[in-house]
Amino acid sequence: MNKRNHEEGTAPKYLVVDKQPHATVSEQFRTIRTNIMYSSVNTDIKSVLFTSDLAGSGKSTVAANMAVAYAQAGKKTLLLDADLRRPTSHETFRVGNREGLSTLIVNDIHLKEVIKGTEFDNLDLITSGPIPPNPAELLSAPKLDAIMVRLVTHYDMVIIDSPPILSVTDAQLLSKNADGVVLVTNVEKNNRDRLNEAKDLLNKSGANILGIVLNGRTAEYKRDGHNYYYQKSQAT
Ligand SMILES: Nc1ncnc2c1ncn2[C@@H]1O[C@H](COP(=O)(O)OP(=O)(O)O)[C@@H](O)[C@H]1O
Ligand SMILES: [Mg+2]
Repeated sequence: MNKRNHEEGTAPKYLVVDKQPHATVSEQFRTIRTNIMYSSVNTDIKSVLFTSDLAGSGKSTVAANMAVAYAQAGKKTLLLDADLRRPTSHETFRVGNREGLSTLIVNDIHLKEVIKGTEFDNLDLITSGPIPPNPAELLSAPKLDAIMVRLVTHYDMVIIDSPPILSVTDAQLLSKNADGVVLVTNVEKNNRDRLNEAKDLLNKSGANILGIVLNGRTAEYKRDGHNYYYQKSQAT
């Protein structure tokens, strides 16, 4: 858990919460953080799974920015890259990916060996590790349950990145280990039927859907060129 040096300007451009803390989009990430906090009155949300209907919806971007937003709020945060098919967190945070979730599940190694520090205070990362031939099998291993229990004990918030729910079963499997699920969808590409299908799959596995993030570029008049907003899933 070595903390890396926080050199000015090292964070990649898509970590907008760090790069442009005053931009509208950064404010929207903080709003999502607040909404998640208030979304469940009776249960403390300590782990949130980010998934999407389709690939390329922006869930890794949203998950990474949410993780930074939680860390900035002083929460001890872990970003878990559980997209064992197209992982990106190691690139976003510029760390190695020789060891990560896949090696942790398959090998007899200690959790500490796969937790990487980031350039951000309060933010640690578990990258995917090498892409395995059988991601769904790994994610249904009982060992994952034990890993999640340890992570939520150690961290205030665990943010989980995952593959799209309509393509593979991985996110459904992961949702069993998350207190809540946020569905990210591209504003231009989403449609109601697909979103309903995604919601049905999550409901089937007993997921607690916290809401939907509509992600995408907006009309030119928006100065920051991004638009993220959040609404309760019931409204869709
Ligand atoms: N709101 C946005 N505006 C512009 N580019 C975006 C936005 N959200 C995501 N992207 C870009 O779109 C691509 C796909 O996003 P990513 O987060 O990797 O999607 P996913 O994890 O759902 O496959 C990335 O290159 C990312 O930088
Ligand atoms: Mg991704």
